Amino acid sequence: MNRKIVVTSALPYANGPIHIGHLVEYLQTDIWVRFQKANGNQCLYFCADDTHGTPIMISAKAQGLPPEKLIERMYAEHVRDFKSFHIEFDNFYSTHSDENRQLSELVFEHLNKRGSIIKREIEQAFCDNCKMFLPDRFIKGTCPKCKAEDQYGDSCDTCGGTYQPTELIKPACATCGTKPTIKKSIHYFFKLADYKQQLKELMASGHTGKSVANKLDEWFAAGLKDWDISRDGPYFGFKIPGEENKFFYVWLDAPIGYMASCKNYCDKNGLDFEKVWNGEDYELYHFIGKDIMYFHALFWPAMLTGAGFKIANKLFVHGFLTVNGVKMSKSKGTFIKAATYAKHLDPEHLRYYYASKLTDGVDDIDLSLDDFVAKINSDLVGKLANLASRSVPMLTGKLDSKLGTIDKEGKELLAQLTSARQQIINDYENLNYASAVRQIAALADTANRYVEQNQPWTTIKTDVEKTRTTLTVIVNAVKVLAVYLKPVLPIFAGKIEKILGIENLSFADVEKALENQKINEYIRLAERIDKDKVQAMIEETKNEQAEQKPQTTLDEPIAPECTIDDFMKVDLRIAKVTRAEAVEGADKLLHLELDIGGVTKNVFAGIAKAYKPADLVGKLVICVANLKPRKMKFGLSEGMILAAGPGGSDIFMLSVDNGAEPGQRVH
Ligand code: MSP
Ligand code: ZN
Repeated sequence: MNRKIVVTSALPYANGPIHIGHLVEYLQTDIWVRFQKANGNQCLYFCADDTHGTPIMISAKAQGLPPEKLIERMYAEHVRDFKSFHIEFDNFYSTHSDENRQLSELVFEHLNKRGSIIKREIEQAFCDNCKMFLPDRFIKGTCPKCKAEDQYGDSCDTCGGTYQPTELIKPACATCGTKPTIKKSIHYFFKLADYKQQLKELMASGHTGKSVANKLDEWFAAGLKDWDISRDGPYFGFKIPGEENKFFYVWLDAPIGYMASCKNYCDKNGLDFEKVWNGEDYELYHFIGKDIMYFHALFWPAMLTGAGFKIANKLFVHGFLTVNGVKMSKSKGTFIKAATYAKHLDPEHLRYYYASKLTDGVDDIDLSLDDFVAKINSDLVGKLANLASRSVPMLTGKLDSKLGTIDKEGKELLAQLTSARQQIINDYENLNYASAVRQIAALADTANRYVEQNQPWTTIKTDVEKTRTTLTVIVNAVKVLAVYLKPVLPIFAGKIEKILGIENLSFADVEKALENQKINEYIRLAERIDKDKVQAMIEETKNEQAEQKPQTTLDEPIAPECTIDDFMKVDLRIAKVTRAEAVEGADKLLHLELDIGGVTKNVFAGIAKAYKPADLVGKLVICVANLKPRKMKFGLSEGMILAAGPGGSDIFMLSVDNGAEPGQRVH
């Protein structure tokens, strides 16, 4: 029986490009949607750009653009990037749309009528200069906990502490630096706690996986607080009906954007939105990342319940992407934009790799770049593409492109392949793509063993018809594997369809044998990854970052000020090097004996990579004579000579050759 399914992915913010972290989600969803379609179900995939809120308003202003213009540009970029990764939405829309405005007002009115909205006066930081209320992220200051400077209003990147913006030391508007004042304003709140019972029942019914449900239990235990759903102008968003200068908070209209995208699609395609979005005939699933669970597991189902809409059958939550085991990092060049990836590497390769890692859990998934190269080259190219490249060209080149029949041994092999069908279907359905990919690769191994055993390249010389049989079996194996892989590798599978002269391969075709028919010319299916390309992608990402940064060549921030009085405490003297020798066991150190006017000082200096002892003896250098002696592993160091540099052989010593006297004070 055909199922009818509606699927959404979280809406990407319209103030930044799509990166490989986002792609975890859009690829996970796209694979699921393609699987449903290949498995005979009707499936509609909706998404949109999330366009409202302060960050977008501010970044538009910084670029000297109206926000409408900025979101228009980002929209075009996002559509381009999704397309290049073969992510096929049935509709990719925008939250800045009439449908979304109408639906947001509708939801709000329903909630209001039910008494789920209350108004309350709150105090908030306000910038008198920018004439706007400042969200936490737009206030910067010194962390009240660890005293690190330049931290956000809600949390500290240095110590990880969280606090109220009012607790910040030296708070300042992030845009203009003005000290914020506190101002009162009336806000609208959604009474989330009114829905506690329904939410608990929803969770108990298996709306999410186990680990997500555990997290929710923590939130229930902590208590469900009223949710502030309004913002004062200036704000880029939808005006609250009946208000002059108040807007819906972006997170109110964002999930409603799922509905707006669906409605826009239905209206354009002659479908009944009420049926598709809200009807019993259609199943509904949301895909999201673990960072936005609160919004999707609590606020969103509560809003839908309050407004009289149905709730999704399931909320699928995935983990975050790490690259080489750590968070994506700008300085490591692993904060890779989708567009940068696509410039250097094949998007289908990332689809395959992510699929090989994705499960139904919320664990983070790691893109290990070495493993990525190895897996594509060994599995995708070495096992899967190889199977076709070892059979199709021989058939077209030497056997009139004609398939023969499948013999007993061939049937046994194909039976092994086709019997995995239900398990693979279950794995896709349950988001265990890693398991599906593992099985497919193992089946490819089995098929490759068959090729080795039957040696078509040898038998072709002696027994043409036996060879035709062997190749027919291999081509049928390729077809089965192509079906299994189709959700992950649509282009790869599409090429195989072309070769086989079949359109729209689906899971229903797995058992249909291809015999006694012609096939078409071979098309190259996959190229090996060259490690240099991965490196080039990383380098380009690093350069993009460098371009964005304000131009400074400082690796480290300048240290806190030191007064001239502080500085004058340093007693600098001319010193003559009377002895210099290497230090055993410390290849960077030289042991120097200095004469500073009759006083001898022992100094261990880290200049051995830059200077030879013999060249130093007799030289006049400058020595910090009043440095507190320091016991080192090799002896007491009683001073320091002036030398500086990045390190290694790049250290430059200040030496004096104008006949100054040892012991003379210098400034
Ligand atoms: N605009 C909100 C979602 C509103 S939905 C009504 C948002 N946007 S986002 O651009 O920050 O993220 C979009 C989706 O991508 C989210 O589900 C998020 O979890 C996911 N990811 C963003 N960065 C990610 C990684 N580094 N790794 C995995 N998923 C990531 O949140
Ligand atoms: Zn300001």
